[in-house]
Amino acid sequence: MEKTDVTKNKVAVLAGGWSDEREISMDSGRACAKALGQAGFEGVELLDVADPDFIPNLINGGFDVAFVAMHGRYGEDGCVQGLLEVLHMPYTFSGVLTSAVATEKDFAKSRFRSAGIPTAKGRKLPAGHIPDEAEVDSLVNLLGLPLFVKPAANGSSYGITMVHKASELAEAVRTAGKGGQRVIVEAGVKGTEITVPVIGNDDPMALPIIEVVKGDDAEFYDLKVKYEPSELHHVMPARLDPDVYERAQRLAVLAHKTLGCRGASRSDFIVTADGNPVILETNTIPGMTETSLLPDSARAAGIEFPELCRRFVEWALEEQDN
Ligand SMILES: Nc1ncnc2c1ncn2[C@@H]1O[C@H](COP(=O)(O)OP(=O)(O)O)[C@@H](O)[C@H]1O
Ligand SMILES: [Mg+2]
Repeated sequence: MEKTDVTKNKVAVLAGGWSDEREISMDSGRACAKALGQAGFEGVELLDVADPDFIPNLINGGFDVAFVAMHGRYGEDGCVQGLLEVLHMPYTFSGVLTSAVATEKDFAKSRFRSAGIPTAKGRKLPAGHIPDEAEVDSLVNLLGLPLFVKPAANGSSYGITMVHKASELAEAVRTAGKGGQRVIVEAGVKGTEITVPVIGNDDPMALPIIEVVKGDDAEFYDLKVKYEPSELHHVMPARLDPDVYERAQRLAVLAHKTLGCRGASRSDFIVTADGNPVILETNTIPGMTETSLLPDSARAAGIEFPELCRRFVEWALEEQDN
């Protein structure tokens, strides 16, 4: 299909589902559907993946392409992507394997390390495993304090604890492991927290970096802080030395390519006092409301939200041509 014809494609915007991030995904879906309309798309429908009629509606709706505006379990982890592969329907953002690897934080970290992207030292615990006293001691010896305990699979700071004392570790593992999750125990990295959006397919580009300022009463960028008004917590462009800024953008592009991301990614880093960006994770479907981090950053780079969403569809169709 000609690129100039991209708006003639009928688009199913997939949102909702069953993850902890369901409501955020619905917000992303509504915003993207509206933006696609503004970009000139004639046929755009918002489908909630948790709707019992979702699959027949998707199959029978005459759609040319799916716009996946989903976060977390089932939507960002390769599940919905697998369904779309089986239906031979092109879709926005990353494919099955990339989505699955990016979701499981320690798999992603091993890919990052092999590409030379610095990561925090950590260990993965099997699902349901609560460390005894001896294991707690050895984890604390290995990783130091404070340390972070989080579910191995991705998602909006749910289940994360910052652990200051060895005696808090077992409870933190219990919290992160709720729902049968594997758990990651990770050395705490001190420094400036940033997030780096990247857009594109084979020749991706980094967008302006956003610095995340957590405020005085929060220990880290937790769930509560994440959903407070963004102007309280975001500084763009991030206040970094130019060479560190450029290094972080380069590493984010490398993370995008290393995982094989398509269309978009947003990598979270902590920049240490000596200017070393340490990657925490790469989100393959970052928040997509008009005021979310990636759209905000794209706007600062001169790409308005409707244009950004149009490009996402273009990149989805480009992938199909490969
Ligand atoms: N190793 C770490 N060192 C310091 N802060 C961390 C570490 N791991 C997580 N955090 C804090 O927790 C937040 C969420 O962690 P992250 O790994 O990005 O998971 P999520 O998928 O929930 O966003 C980060 O934005 C950061 O503030
Ligand atoms: Mg994060």
